[in-house]
Amino acid sequence: MNAAVVERTAETRLSPGPCPVIRSQRLILRPHRLADADAIAVSLADFKVARMLSRVPQPYHRDDALDWLVRQTSGLMPDWNLAITTGDDIHIGVVGMELRRKGWHLGYWLNRYYWDHGYMTEAAAAVLERFFRRMPDATVHSGAYADNLASLNVQRKLGFRIVDAGEVFSMARNRMVPHIETIIEAGDLNLPKPR
Ligand SMILES: CC(C)(COP(=O)(O)OP(=O)(O)OC[C@H]1O[C@@H](n2cnc3c(N)ncnc32)[C@H](O)[C@@H]1OP(=O)(O)O)[C@@H](O)C(=O)NCCC(=O)NCCS
Repeated sequence: MNAAVVERTAETRLSPGPCPVIRSQRLILRPHRLADADAIAVSLADFKVARMLSRVPQPYHRDDALDWLVRQTSGLMPDWNLAITTGDDIHIGVVGMELRRKGWHLGYWLNRYYWDHGYMTEAAAAVLERFFRRMPDATVHSGAYADNLASLNVQRKLGFRIVDAGEVFSMARNRMVPHIETIIEAGDLNLPKPR
């Protein structure tokens, strides 16, 4: 058993249940498959995406994606890590709810080609809405590097509030980077207007 599993808190007993399929206005969010490895590898080999994430090394290869997918598809994790797909099942990103030491954590990324169309606000809102239906008393943590204005905007639009600031290591940048921490509870969630 690895340290991450040992660290998981009593919230494990209050699991939101199996990773669902969620349909939003323009997207289908579904559990991952091993076959998503190529799409993930292409998206995360882009430094502009990876530099905003803490645990994505550069260069990033298909094997890195497969290592992650094997864990996600094992059925052993309480987490939801949903593939963001367009109607034709093209994998364009990930939005996940992970149970970490502090509690539930929202994380996400999108292939650079799909930025600035409101997709992440739509995807994250849909996941939070479903998550809070199953876990109405949960506090969801998130955050972003201080230079990630797009992500901080996504969180502001959804209703997250800033609670702390510090530094978090970025594997892609290979250094500590100023970081802003945020939280949201069910009653604070703003659902985006249909586009
Ligand atoms: C962060 C990310 C997920 C945003 O996805 P997206 O689908 O483009 O986000 P949305 O279009 O829903 O919303 C982005 C908002 O930020 C704004 N924005 C985008 N770039 C910006 C910038 N450089 N400065 C300020 N605002 C910016 C957009 O205008 C939009 O706000 P608006 O709706 O008020 O106009 C995407 O940029 C990404 O994957 N980045 C790399 C990985 C990453 O940062 N993951 C999150 C780690 S915390």
